[in-house]
Amino acid sequence: MADAVLMDEPLVARLPESFWKRMRDAPARLLMIDYDGTLVPFRVERMEARPSPESYASLQKLVESGHTRVVIVSGRPAEEVAMLLGGLPVTIVGAHGFERFEHLEGTRKSTLTSDETDGLAAADAAARATGLEARIEIKPASVAMHTRGMGHDEAHEAEELAWNVWTPIAERHGLECRTFAGGVEIRSRHYHKGIAVETLLEEMPADVFAVYVGDDDTDEDAFRVLAGRGTGIKVGDPDGQTEAQWRLPDPEAVREMLDHWQAEMHRTVAPAVSVRTPARLIVVSNRLPSFEAKRKPDKTRRGKAAGGLATAVAAALKHTGGGMWIGWTGKTSPRRDARQLRPVAEDPLPILGIDLSDREVDAYYNGFCNHALWPLLHSFQSHVSLSTFELEVYRDVNQAFAQSIRPLLSDGDLVWIHDYHLIHVGAELRRLGFQGRIGFFLHVPFPSLDFLAILPEYHTFVEALAQYDVIGFHTRTYLDNYLYACLRILDAEWDGSRLRAGGRTQRAGVYPAGIDPKRFAPSDAEEGSPVRRRSLKGMKGEGRLMIGVDRLDYTKGIPERLIAMEHLLKIWPELRGRVTMLQICAPSRQRVPEYIEQKRAMDALVGRLNAELGEHDWEPIRYLYRSYAQSDLASFYREAEVGLVTPLRDGMNLVAKEFVAAQRPEEPGVLVLSRFAGASEELTEAVMVNPYLPEDCARGIAEALSMPRGERIERHRAMLAKVTSQTAQKWAADFLRDLSASDP
Ligand code: UDP
Ligand code: G6P
Repeated sequence: MADAVLMDEPLVARLPESFWKRMRDAPARLLMIDYDGTLVPFRVERMEARPSPESYASLQKLVESGHTRVVIVSGRPAEEVAMLLGGLPVTIVGAHGFERFEHLEGTRKSTLTSDETDGLAAADAAARATGLEARIEIKPASVAMHTRGMGHDEAHEAEELAWNVWTPIAERHGLECRTFAGGVEIRSRHYHKGIAVETLLEEMPADVFAVYVGDDDTDEDAFRVLAGRGTGIKVGDPDGQTEAQWRLPDPEAVREMLDHWQAEMHRTVAPAVSVRTPARLIVVSNRLPSFEAKRKPDKTRRGKAAGGLATAVAAALKHTGGGMWIGWTGKTSPRRDARQLRPVAEDPLPILGIDLSDREVDAYYNGFCNHALWPLLHSFQSHVSLSTFELEVYRDVNQAFAQSIRPLLSDGDLVWIHDYHLIHVGAELRRLGFQGRIGFFLHVPFPSLDFLAILPEYHTFVEALAQYDVIGFHTRTYLDNYLYACLRILDAEWDGSRLRAGGRTQRAGVYPAGIDPKRFAPSDAEEGSPVRRRSLKGMKGEGRLMIGVDRLDYTKGIPERLIAMEHLLKIWPELRGRVTMLQICAPSRQRVPEYIEQKRAMDALVGRLNAELGEHDWEPIRYLYRSYAQSDLASFYREAEVGLVTPLRDGMNLVAKEFVAAQRPEEPGVLVLSRFAGASEELTEAVMVNPYLPEDCARGIAEALSMPRGERIERHRAMLAKVTSQTAQKWAADFLRDLSASDP
C-alpha cells in the first residue's frame, strides 16, 4: 500500500533518495507513463490534451537521452497518442496493450476473438439505444462511455446506466466492465495495462529499474504486476486506494520528476554516458508527398504529381533521425477540429497534416498562393490576380499553421519552413514565443523588386522573410534579387553571407536542390512496370523518342515546346515519321482558371499539330494528361534520346536532373534545357535554348538529335557528376548545417 507522502513537500522529498539511488545504480531503466491525467492534464476536448511545451521538452530530453527506455502506456489508440506527441521517437502502447506503435515502424495491432468482437458491437448498440450515443467512443479493444465535462450527478447517472447495460453483455461475451477516470468501459479481458507491463518487462534485462506512473483505475493493473519487481507511482487522488508505492499530486509534478530523472543521470554518470541530444528537425510545407508506397505495385498514379518540393524534401529526409514533417493533408474539412494535426504517414519520418476549410482552399491555395504569388514570383505579371480578402486568408492560414505547430516545439528544435505558401509562419512562431532556430527555403524564383512590388503590402513579405535565421534560394540570381529588396526596403546591410536588418542577423545563401540519383540510375532503377515498358516500345516504334515531363503549368513552356516541334518538322521535313515527342503532363491546380485554360489550350494545340503534321501511321506528339510514379519516369527518361526541359521560368526543375541521372553513361540521351530554369546555372553542359523563341528551341532539338556519341558521353559525364554530388541529401545537409550554426 502507498507510503504516506506529503503532497505539498518538494518533489525530491516525495520520491526519496533511495528511489533515485536505485535508478542511478541500475544497469537499465524502464519508465512507463500513462498519458491522460499523468503526462497531460485532462481536457474536455480529448484532442486538446497535449503536453505543455515544458513537459514536452522534459519528455523529449529523456526519450533522446538513450539511458532510459521511455514507453507511453495509454487506453487511447496508439496512433492518437503518437499524433498528440507530434512525432517523438517513443514507444507507445495503446488501447490498453492491444496496439503497439514504434517510431518509424508504425503500429502493430493484436486481434480480438469473434465472441469479443460481437460483444463490443452489442455494447455499442445497447449504449446508443439508451441515449448515450454522443458519449460513446469505439476503441480497438473496447467501447468507452466518456463523462468528461458532465456535472457530478449527471456523470454518476450516465456511468450507472452504462454499467447496468454493459454488465450482462460482458458476462455473455467474456468481456469486462471497468471504470476509468472520466467514464466507464467494456473491454477485452486479454488486454490491460498489467499485461502490457508484463510484456515490456520481458523485453528488458531482469535487473531493470522499472517504474510505472499512472493516475486511474486502469493503471492499478500495472501497479499490481509491478509490485515486487518495480515501482508504481500514483498521480492525483490523494485519498484513494492504490497498489502503487509512491504518489505525486499532478502532471506538473510528473514533469518535475522527468527533469529530475534526467538531472540525476547527468549528475552521476554523465562522463560515462555523455549522450548527444541531436536537434529535432521539424519540416513544414503546404504540400506533403503523395505516398506512392501505399499504392498497389501494378497501379500507376493517375492523380496529381506532388512536384519538386515534396520530391526534394522526401529524398533529403530519408535518412534523418527524429523529427517530423507537417503540412496540409490535401483535404478539406468543415469540422471544428480540422486544425488538429493528424498522422498522415510514417515515411520518411512521421508526417502530420492539418485539413483546411473549402473557403481556405479557395482563397489561400487556389487564390493567393496560386493566382497571385505563383505567377508573381515567376514574373508572369499578366497572370497575377489580387484580392485583399485572399491576402487576409493567406495570413490566417499561415497563423493557423504556426498555432498548430507551436505546442509541439521546444527551443532546441530546428524548424524548416518551405516555399511561398508559408512565408509568414516564421514570424508567427516568433510571436507565439518560439525562440529556437527557424529556416526558410524558397523553391521558386525570387523576382526583381519591381515585380515584387505588385504584391499588396509587399514590404511585409520581405520583413517576414528577413526574420528567419537562415534563408535559402536555388540560385545566385534569386539571392541577389532578395538582397536587393532587403537593402532597399529594410535598409539592411550585407557582408557577403549575413544580412543585418532591424537588429537581427540572418544568413542568406544559395542551396541548389537536388534529387536522390539512385532512384533513377540505370543500375538500381527498375525498368518500370512491364505494362509501361511494353506500351512505350509500341509507341515509338522504330522512331526516335523525345520526352517532356511536367506538371501542367503555364510556367513550364509546354505549348511553346510543341510549337518548337512544329518548327523542327517544317525546317527539317526529313524528321517526319522519325521522331516522336512524348509529353507527360501531370494534372495540377485544376481549380485555378489559368490552369483550366492551359489544359484547354493544350488539348486544342496537340489536336491541331497531330492533325496537320501527322501521317496515317505516325503522330508527332504523344500527349498524356496524367502522372506516373518516379520508377516509371526513370525508364521513360532512359528510353528517350532527348529530354526537353524548356520552362519559361522555373525555380530549379528537378526533372532535368532526373533525366540526367537516368541515362546510361555509355549511350546517354541529350538534355535540352531552358536558360530560364534554375537548373541551367548548374547543368551548363546541356544544350541551352531560349524557349520564347521557337526557332532557337527547334535548333537545340536538332542539335541534340544529331550530337555525336563522344560529345553526348562527355556532356553527360560532366552533368552526372554534378547531379550525383549536389543531391537532395547534400542540399538539406548544407542548409541544416548553417541553420544549426545560426543564433536564434
Ligand atoms: N513527377 C512525378 N510524376 C509525374 C510527373 C512529375 O512524380 O507524372 C515528379 C518528378 O519526378 C519531379 C517532380 O514531380 O520530381 C517535378 O519537379 P520539378 O522541380 O521538375 O517541377 P515542379 O512540379 O516542382 O514545378
Ligand atoms: C512547385 C512548388 C511547390 C509545389 C509544387 C506542386 O514545386 O514550388 O511548393 O508543392 O510545385 O504544386 P502544388 O500546388 O500541387 O503543391
